[in-house]
Amino acid sequence: MTILVTGAAGFIGSNFVLDWLKTSSETVINLDKLTYAGNRHNLVTIQDDPRHTLVQGDIGDQTLVPQLLATHRPRAILNFAAESHVDRSIHGPGEFIQTNIVGTFHLLEAARDYWMQLEDAEKANFRFLHVSTDEVYGTLTASDAPFTEQNRYEPNSPYSSSKAASDHLVRAWHHTYGLPVLTTNCSNNYGPYHFPEKLIPLTITNALAGKPVPIYGDGLQVRDWLYVGDHCSGIRRVLEAGTIGETYNIGGWNEQTNISIVQKICALLDERRPRADGTSYATQITHVKDRPGHDRRYAIDARKIEQQLGWRPAETFETGIRKTVDWYLENAEWVTQVQSGAYRDWVNKQYGETV
Ligand code: NAD
Ligand code: TYD
Repeated sequence: MTILVTGAAGFIGSNFVLDWLKTSSETVINLDKLTYAGNRHNLVTIQDDPRHTLVQGDIGDQTLVPQLLATHRPRAILNFAAESHVDRSIHGPGEFIQTNIVGTFHLLEAARDYWMQLEDAEKANFRFLHVSTDEVYGTLTASDAPFTEQNRYEPNSPYSSSKAASDHLVRAWHHTYGLPVLTTNCSNNYGPYHFPEKLIPLTITNALAGKPVPIYGDGLQVRDWLYVGDHCSGIRRVLEAGTIGETYNIGGWNEQTNISIVQKICALLDERRPRADGTSYATQITHVKDRPGHDRRYAIDARKIEQQLGWRPAETFETGIRKTVDWYLENAEWVTQVQSGAYRDWVNKQYGETV
């Protein structure tokens, strides 16, 4: 058996494939465009594994994707591929519309054509699992209840609105054409192979490099943080037992302000690799201009996946962030490699002289 996983040279997708191959004998076709966020080095430990094939290509490619489906006959498609960074979506929304909306549309069409031609048993077992975000629900006030699957979609950024649009397409392809879809809406992930444009890896790598650690605005924005390995186990569980056409929120029961996250990372680094001058990494925290339209709070009510599918995260934030910090300390070469070239241009564009 085979699964087609898109965007699996990126952060979550690569973690998903690495975990998958530890527990499954099913082969993986990994379709990834290898944008700035896609990285062959994330997959170096499986580069000689015959169960994994990386194909460089676009989910929107109307020739390549049908060919891959016809050749490899996957029993499922898992769609991780996306433009994923809110700040980049503010600077340039075009790619987000193209990949997250148009790309998902073409992938759904290719999946539908393929699925229609399957034999009855294969047709019944086929799944299209779409990986999405809690950001589609918009922002919460401090007193609002966490997002449930019943919340209205109220996306506020070009990123979240493009993901919301893709979720709607997936839903419609089920209701209209019967495509057996599943959608997951997850909170903020952290862990190994996280590109250092996002808050947690940026904090670790800037702190270690002796650079300012940027906090947008007052730093009191709240996110729910989930260790990436737990997100991957949640997706495996939904693929295995989720009800067709349903959506599942995946979260870490771990709401924290950005400033608290950054302070905890600084404290861990103080313990693991103390600064030469004996002062804390927290002295590098620098408040910078806030993100336009910055969502104040995200929080996930993950009771549905727990009650219906028996899934809960295995890591607490304390255990997950320790693993993450240690991974970055042990993988300085990976960090150097991803920070070359275009990464510097991005940092200059986003933070100017401050960082
Ligand atoms: P990422 O940016 O690290 O990786 C995205 C991957 O998709 C990259 O390898 C990139 O090369 C590939 N890609 C981009 N455009 C493509 C295209 N047109 N065709 C094929 N491949 C393409 O993102 P991530 O953080 O790993 O997120 C993966 C998925 O999970 C996304 O759909 C994202 O919306 C969702 N998600 C992310 C988080 C998070 O905290 N990172 C939380 C919830 C949901
Ligand atoms: P991010 O990792 O970009 O995820 P998202 O915006 O999808 O939640 O950001 C997480 C939070 O951290 C968000 O509130 C923005 C904030 N943030 C900073 O304060 N400084 C930074 O340099 C970055 C990248 C993010």
